[in-house]
Amino acid sequence: MRTIAIANQKGGCGKTTSAVNIAAAYARHGRRTMIMDLDPQGHSTLGLGHNPETLDKTIYHALTNAQIPLPRVIIGTSMEGLDLAPSNILLSGAELELANVTGREFVLSEQFRLVSDQYDVCIMDCPPSLGLLTLNALVASTDVIVPVQVNYFAMEGLRQLLETADIIKMNFQPCYVKILGLLLTFVEDRTLLSRQIQQQMREYFGDLVFETVIHRTVRLAEAPSAGESILTFAPNSKGAAEYMALVEEIITREEEPKEKPSVEETAGETGEETGEETLAEVESQDQLTPLTEEIRNAKK
Ligand SMILES: Nc1ncnc2c1ncn2[C@@H]1O[C@H](COP(=O)(O)OP(=O)(O)O)[C@@H](O)[C@H]1O
Ligand SMILES: [Mg+2]
Repeated sequence: MRTIAIANQKGGCGKTTSAVNIAAAYARHGRRTMIMDLDPQGHSTLGLGHNPETLDKTIYHALTNAQIPLPRVIIGTSMEGLDLAPSNILLSGAELELANVTGREFVLSEQFRLVSDQYDVCIMDCPPSLGLLTLNALVASTDVIVPVQVNYFAMEGLRQLLETADIIKMNFQPCYVKILGLLLTFVEDRTLLSRQIQQQMREYFGDLVFETVIHRTVRLAEAPSAGESILTFAPNSKGAAEYMALVEEIITREEEPKEKPSVEETAGETGEETGEETLAEVESQDQLTPLTEEIRNAKK
């Protein structure tokens, strides 16, 4: 089972929208797919037509209660081939409850072992923080997709996230996490800023940026209120085409794995051409999060 975390500690950059629609596109490609809602806000649960308030069992139970295996919290969705491990506000207590548990970073990895034969791919919608839930997702993931909203602060926090993924890979065994790609979201071809940021991201991060971008379109924002992915809500929309194209791009990347330069190498090669402001922004991300520090200390 391939496990893909959709992560970025910034809120509102398109994580949930991407998680729901990437999962739907995988299901449409015939893959047995599960989407796991790891955000206590329960937006992907809601966006797939389930009311978080009325759920009896959620991912919270599977993470905090050894008696409740993951398969018991998984429910179906209106889309064939797409199941959901839902969440609701209860999940906000999980980080605290797990804090003193031995192996607290591996709880999700352990749970995945129970379903790895049942699904081809699991998409994890992460919360907007680098806390224990995101850490569990990253440790349990084979790949990470980072949605990046193309606005003035696009680079903010990115380095922190990429560094966290590297540190996790070095410190938690077995853990195979790799950044699959940066996904540019809210793209607007008409605005200069959007075009400039897109160009800067490609210069700085090279192949790490997916060729497919997600444009800002109102249909993508409307779909969740119908409790559907964009593929059934507006099958002929630009958003539907773009998320389908993205999954095709991912599947193609899988089939023809080419050596990708690390972020540092890419940065070194193209750094000089990159606008000073952008580099300064990235450089200013040197401060480590409490989480990254915690991981480092744990290994000392
Ligand atoms: N490409 C897009 N075009 C227009 N609106 C979008 C797009 N992607 C997301 N949105 C909307 O923007 C808001 C934030 O997106 P969301 O996916 O919830 O971000 P996150 O999960 O990172 O907080 C939501 O209201 C969502 O419907
Ligand atoms: Mg979200």
